[in-house]
Amino acid sequence: MSTDAIVLLKNDHKTVEKLFKEFEKAGEEAYAEKRRLADSIIEELTVHAYIEEEIFYPAAREAVPETKDHVLESVEEHHVVVWMLSELLGMDPKDETFDAKVTVLTENVRHHVEEEEDEWFPEVRSAMGRKKLQELGQRMLDARGDAPKNPLELKSAKA
Ligand SMILES: [Fe+2]
Ligand SMILES: [Fe+2]
Repeated sequence: MSTDAIVLLKNDHKTVEKLFKEFEKAGEEAYAEKRRLADSIIEELTVHAYIEEEIFYPAAREAVPETKDHVLESVEEHHVVVWMLSELLGMDPKDETFDAKVTVLTENVRHHVEEEEDEWFPEVRSAMGRKKLQELGQRMLDARGDAPKNPLELKSAKA
């Protein structure tokens, strides 16, 4: 399996997108399923944001200093997402705001992922090269287990 950092991040994006689609398909009153999906979304995004903030973003900023503004905006986007995740954590799926929060979260994450993948990753890939991306990806895999359970413990929560 490839440990290319960008491939790993894109795989995470796909996993989360699948969960969003399942949520969109879930019936209005499929409360248990919606709660389970929200838990998976929270877990996936917390781990993903953790490895980006701890490892990928700083390395990318160093490798491509011109993208500093992009990195800073990305962290602010994480900040918003992380607060939404923390609100969804433990929220009753019967609460009338539950679906609305997941919908806005989905819109935010889709926008964020699009910017990462279309505007930023290609620049990072050409600046870093294959070998460096492989090493970075390995570090990211090793760090997944250190991610916090609570999204508010991510660095971007305080950004
Ligand atoms: Fe991100
Ligand atoms: Fe990402």
